[in-house]
Amino acid sequence: MAGSIVVLTGAGISKESGIDTFRDADGVWSRVRIEDVATPSAFVRDPVKVQGFYNARRRGLLDPKIAPNAAHAALARLEAEWPGPVAIVTQNVDDLHERAGSKNLLHIHGELLKSRCFACGDVREARVDLGAESVCAKCGNDGTLRPHVVWFTEMPFFMDEAIAAVRACAIFASIGTSGAVYPAAGLVEHARAAGARTVEINLEPSEVASAFAEKRYGPAGVLVPAFVAELLGR
Ligand code: APR
Repeated sequence: MAGSIVVLTGAGISKESGIDTFRDADGVWSRVRIEDVATPSAFVRDPVKVQGFYNARRRGLLDPKIAPNAAHAALARLEAEWPGPVAIVTQNVDDLHERAGSKNLLHIHGELLKSRCFACGDVREARVDLGAESVCAKCGNDGTLRPHVVWFTEMPFFMDEAIAAVRACAIFASIGTSGAVYPAAGLVEHARAAGARTVEINLEPSEVASAFAEKRYGPAGVLVPAFVAELLGR
Protein backbone atom coordinates (compact mmCIF):
# COMPACT_ATOMS: atom_id res chain seq x y z
CA MET A 1 0.00 0.00 0.00
CA ALA A 2 1.42 3.37 -1.03
CA GLY A 3 1.72 6.00 1.68
CA SER A 4 -0.68 8.89 1.83
CA ILE A 5 -0.02 12.33 0.41
CA VAL A 6 -1.18 15.63 1.86
CA VAL A 7 -0.94 18.76 -0.24
CA LEU A 8 -1.33 22.21 1.35
CA THR A 9 -2.27 24.86 -1.20
CA GLY A 10 -2.38 28.64 -1.09
CA ALA A 11 -3.20 31.57 -3.34
CA GLY A 12 -0.14 30.98 -5.55
CA ILE A 13 -1.72 27.89 -7.11
CA SER A 14 -4.63 29.98 -8.41
CA LYS A 15 -2.49 32.92 -9.63
CA GLU A 16 -2.10 31.48 -13.13
CA SER A 17 -5.89 31.09 -13.26
CA GLY A 18 -6.20 34.87 -12.93
CA ILE A 19 -6.92 35.18 -9.20
CA ASP A 20 -4.64 37.55 -7.29
CA THR A 21 -2.59 36.34 -4.35
CA PHE A 22 -2.62 38.29 -1.08
CA ARG A 23 0.96 39.27 -0.26
CA ASP A 24 2.63 39.65 -3.64
CA ALA A 25 3.35 43.21 -4.85
CA ASP A 26 0.09 43.19 -6.86
CA GLY A 27 -1.76 41.19 -4.20
CA VAL A 28 -5.10 41.84 -2.53
CA TRP A 29 -3.50 43.19 0.65
CA SER A 30 -1.65 45.84 -1.35
CA ARG A 31 -5.03 47.38 -2.24
CA VAL A 32 -7.13 46.98 0.90
CA ARG A 33 -6.23 46.62 4.55
CA ILE A 34 -6.93 43.33 6.32
CA GLU A 35 -8.41 45.20 9.30
CA ASP A 36 -10.89 47.00 7.00
CA VAL A 37 -12.35 43.96 5.23
CA ALA A 38 -11.28 40.66 6.77
CA THR A 39 -12.00 40.71 10.49
CA PRO A 40 -15.22 40.29 12.51
CA SER A 41 -14.86 43.83 13.84
CA ALA A 42 -14.61 45.23 10.30
CA PHE A 43 -17.94 43.53 9.55
CA VAL A 44 -19.57 45.04 12.65
CA ARG A 45 -18.15 48.49 11.85
CA ASP A 46 -18.88 48.57 8.11
CA PRO A 47 -20.84 45.57 6.80
CA VAL A 48 -21.48 47.32 3.45
CA LYS A 49 -17.75 47.65 2.81
CA VAL A 50 -16.98 44.06 3.85
CA GLN A 51 -19.84 42.59 1.82
CA GLY A 52 -18.80 44.76 -1.14
CA PHE A 53 -15.25 43.41 -0.97
CA TYR A 54 -16.42 39.77 -0.98
CA ASN A 55 -19.19 40.43 -3.53
CA ALA A 56 -16.53 41.72 -5.93
CA ARG A 57 -14.28 38.74 -5.25
CA ARG A 58 -17.22 36.32 -5.74
CA ARG A 59 -18.15 37.98 -9.04
CA GLY A 60 -14.52 37.75 -10.09
CA LEU A 61 -14.41 34.03 -9.31
CA LEU A 62 -17.60 33.47 -11.31
CA ASP A 63 -16.20 35.29 -14.35
CA PRO A 64 -16.28 32.77 -17.23
CA LYS A 65 -12.62 33.54 -17.92
CA ILE A 66 -11.55 32.02 -14.58
CA ALA A 67 -10.76 28.30 -14.80
CA PRO A 68 -8.49 25.76 -13.09
CA ASN A 69 -4.93 25.68 -14.41
CA ALA A 70 -2.44 22.87 -15.02
CA ALA A 71 -1.47 22.72 -11.33
CA HIS A 72 -5.06 22.14 -10.16
CA ALA A 73 -5.50 19.53 -12.90
CA ALA A 74 -2.30 17.73 -11.90
CA LEU A 75 -3.45 17.45 -8.26
CA ALA A 76 -6.79 16.00 -9.39
CA ARG A 77 -4.85 13.51 -11.52
CA LEU A 78 -2.68 12.62 -8.52
CA GLU A 79 -5.76 11.87 -6.41
CA ALA A 80 -7.24 9.73 -9.19
CA GLU A 81 -4.08 7.75 -9.98
CA TRP A 82 -1.99 7.52 -6.78
CA PRO A 83 -2.48 4.10 -5.18
CA GLY A 84 -2.85 5.59 -1.67
CA PRO A 85 -4.97 8.39 -0.18
CA VAL A 86 -4.39 11.96 -1.38
CA ALA A 87 -5.83 14.90 0.54
CA ILE A 88 -5.70 18.60 -0.28
CA VAL A 89 -5.78 21.09 2.58
CA THR A 90 -6.45 24.42 0.93
CA GLN A 91 -6.30 27.93 2.28
CA ASN A 92 -8.04 29.10 -0.88
CA VAL A 93 -11.68 30.12 -0.79
CA ASP A 94 -12.05 29.63 -4.54
CA ASP A 95 -13.51 26.42 -6.00
CA LEU A 96 -10.82 25.70 -8.59
CA HIS A 97 -9.68 22.43 -6.98
CA GLU A 98 -13.26 21.13 -7.16
CA ARG A 99 -13.67 22.33 -10.73
CA ALA A 100 -10.47 20.47 -11.66
CA GLY A 101 -11.89 17.27 -10.14
CA SER A 102 -10.30 17.03 -6.67
CA LYS A 103 -12.62 15.31 -4.18
CA ASN A 104 -10.73 14.88 -0.91
CA LEU A 105 -10.47 18.53 0.00
CA LEU A 106 -10.53 20.53 3.23
CA HIS A 107 -11.28 24.25 2.87
CA ILE A 108 -9.69 25.43 6.10
CA HIS A 109 -10.34 29.12 5.33
CA GLY A 110 -13.90 28.55 4.10
CA GLU A 111 -15.53 28.97 0.70
CA LEU A 112 -16.37 32.15 -1.15
CA LEU A 113 -19.33 30.56 -2.96
CA LYS A 114 -21.13 29.79 0.32
CA SER A 115 -22.95 31.99 2.82
CA ARG A 116 -23.31 31.47 6.54
CA CYS A 117 -26.16 32.83 8.66
CA PHE A 118 -24.88 34.23 11.92
CA ALA A 119 -28.37 33.89 13.42
CA CYS A 120 -28.91 30.16 12.79
CA GLY A 121 -25.55 28.92 11.46
CA ASP A 122 -26.96 27.65 8.18
CA VAL A 123 -24.29 27.24 5.48
CA ARG A 124 -25.32 26.98 1.85
CA GLU A 125 -24.24 27.75 -1.69
CA ALA A 126 -24.36 31.46 -2.55
CA ARG A 127 -23.43 32.63 -6.03
CA VAL A 128 -25.01 36.05 -5.68
CA ASP A 129 -24.12 39.27 -3.89
CA LEU A 130 -24.80 39.29 -0.15
CA GLY A 131 -26.03 42.33 1.75
CA ALA A 132 -28.52 43.74 4.26
CA GLU A 133 -31.41 42.68 2.01
CA SER A 134 -30.29 39.01 1.83
CA VAL A 135 -32.69 36.64 3.57
CA CYS A 136 -31.59 33.39 5.22
CA ALA A 137 -33.39 30.53 3.46
CA LYS A 138 -33.44 28.53 6.72
CA CYS A 139 -34.45 30.93 9.53
CA GLY A 140 -35.95 33.74 7.44
CA ASN A 141 -33.93 36.51 9.08
CA ASP A 142 -32.69 39.29 6.88
CA GLY A 143 -29.28 40.90 7.00
CA THR A 144 -27.75 37.90 8.77
CA LEU A 145 -25.84 36.29 5.91
CA ARG A 146 -22.06 36.63 5.76
CA PRO A 147 -19.50 35.08 3.43
CA HIS A 148 -18.52 31.60 4.62
CA VAL A 149 -14.87 32.58 4.86
CA VAL A 150 -12.55 32.60 7.86
CA TRP A 151 -11.57 36.10 8.90
CA PHE A 152 -8.45 37.06 10.83
CA THR A 153 -8.89 36.25 14.56
CA GLU A 154 -11.39 33.48 13.69
CA MET A 155 -10.62 29.78 14.00
CA PRO A 156 -9.93 27.95 10.73
CA PHE A 157 -12.15 24.97 9.87
CA PHE A 158 -11.16 21.28 9.86
CA MET A 159 -7.78 21.73 11.59
CA ASP A 160 -8.15 18.49 13.58
CA GLU A 161 -8.73 16.54 10.35
CA ALA A 162 -5.90 18.36 8.58
CA ILE A 163 -3.41 17.70 11.37
CA ALA A 164 -4.45 14.04 11.62
CA ALA A 165 -3.96 13.60 7.86
CA VAL A 166 -0.55 15.29 7.94
CA ARG A 167 0.58 13.22 10.94
CA ALA A 168 -0.23 10.06 8.99
CA CYS A 169 1.25 11.07 5.64
CA ALA A 170 4.33 9.85 3.82
CA ILE A 171 4.63 12.92 1.59
CA PHE A 172 3.69 16.50 2.47
CA ALA A 173 3.81 19.11 -0.29
CA SER A 174 3.10 22.80 0.15
CA ILE A 175 2.19 24.69 -3.02
CA GLY A 176 1.79 28.44 -3.61
CA THR A 177 1.68 29.73 -0.07
CA SER A 178 3.83 32.38 1.61
CA GLY A 179 3.77 30.54 4.93
CA ALA A 180 2.72 33.76 6.65
CA VAL A 181 -0.57 32.58 8.13
CA TYR A 182 -0.92 30.06 10.96
CA PRO A 183 -1.99 27.43 11.76
CA ALA A 184 -1.65 26.40 8.07
CA ALA A 185 2.01 27.43 7.98
CA GLY A 186 2.69 25.12 10.94
CA LEU A 187 1.44 21.96 9.21
CA VAL A 188 4.93 21.25 7.87
CA GLU A 189 6.12 20.79 11.46
CA HIS A 190 3.58 17.99 11.92
CA ALA A 191 4.84 16.42 8.69
CA ARG A 192 8.43 16.58 9.93
CA ALA A 193 7.42 15.05 13.25
CA ALA A 194 5.75 12.22 11.31
CA GLY A 195 8.93 11.61 9.30
CA ALA A 196 7.25 12.54 6.02
CA ARG A 197 9.04 13.67 2.87
CA THR A 198 8.50 17.45 2.79
CA VAL A 199 8.43 19.44 -0.47
CA GLU A 200 7.88 23.16 -0.95
CA ILE A 201 6.74 24.33 -4.40
CA ASN A 202 6.43 28.10 -4.71
CA LEU A 203 7.53 31.03 -6.80
CA GLU A 204 10.03 32.00 -4.09
CA PRO A 205 11.11 30.65 -0.69
CA SER A 206 8.23 30.95 1.78
CA GLU A 207 8.58 32.19 5.34
CA VAL A 208 8.81 28.56 6.50
CA ALA A 209 11.04 27.31 3.66
CA SER A 210 13.73 26.14 6.09
CA ALA A 211 11.32 23.51 7.47
CA PHE A 212 11.19 21.70 4.09
CA ALA A 213 13.74 19.13 3.00
CA GLU A 214 13.05 19.68 -0.74
CA LYS A 215 12.32 23.01 -2.40
CA ARG A 216 11.32 23.76 -5.98
CA TYR A 217 10.90 27.37 -7.08
CA GLY A 218 8.98 28.47 -10.17
CA PRO A 219 5.39 28.73 -11.43
CA ALA A 220 2.99 26.13 -10.04
CA GLY A 221 1.52 25.56 -13.52
CA VAL A 222 4.86 24.12 -14.60
CA LEU A 223 6.28 22.62 -11.40
CA VAL A 224 3.19 20.84 -10.09
CA PRO A 225 2.48 18.77 -13.23
CA ALA A 226 6.19 17.81 -13.29
CA PHE A 227 6.11 16.82 -9.59
CA VAL A 228 2.95 14.75 -10.08
CA ALA A 229 4.39 13.02 -13.17
CA GLU A 230 7.48 12.19 -11.11
CA LEU A 231 5.40 10.74 -8.25
CA LEU A 232 3.31 8.66 -10.62
CA GLY A 233 6.38 7.57 -12.56
CA ARG A 234 4.94 8.80 -15.86
N1 APR B 1 3.19 29.64 -8.74
C1 APR B 1 3.62 29.32 -7.50
N2 APR B 1 3.63 30.19 -6.48
C2 APR B 1 3.21 31.44 -6.72
C3 APR B 1 2.75 31.85 -7.99
C4 APR B 1 2.76 30.90 -9.04
N3 APR B 1 2.35 31.18 -10.27
N4 APR B 1 2.41 33.17 -7.92
C5 APR B 1 2.63 33.54 -6.66
N5 APR B 1 3.11 32.52 -5.92
C6 APR B 1 3.50 32.49 -4.50
C7 APR B 1 4.02 33.80 -3.98
O1 APR B 1 5.43 33.88 -4.19
C8 APR B 1 3.66 33.71 -2.49
O2 APR B 1 4.72 33.17 -1.73
O3 APR B 1 2.33 32.23 -3.77
C9 APR B 1 2.45 32.76 -2.47
C10 APR B 1 1.15 33.43 -2.10
O4 APR B 1 1.22 33.90 -0.79
P1 APR B 1 0.02 34.72 -0.13
O5 APR B 1 -0.40 35.81 -1.04
O6 APR B 1 0.46 35.11 1.24
O7 APR B 1 -1.17 33.66 -0.09
P2 APR B 1 -1.43 32.51 0.99
O8 APR B 1 -0.16 31.96 1.48
O9 APR B 1 -2.42 31.58 0.39
O10 APR B 1 -2.12 33.34 2.13
C11 APR B 1 -2.61 32.66 3.27
O11 APR B 1 -3.64 34.66 3.99
O12 APR B 1 -4.89 36.61 3.84
C12 APR B 1 -4.90 35.29 3.95
O13 APR B 1 -6.80 34.08 4.13
C13 APR B 1 -5.85 34.46 3.18
O14 APR B 1 -5.75 32.09 2.80
C14 APR B 1 -5.01 33.29 2.75
C15 APR B 1 -3.87 33.30 3.74
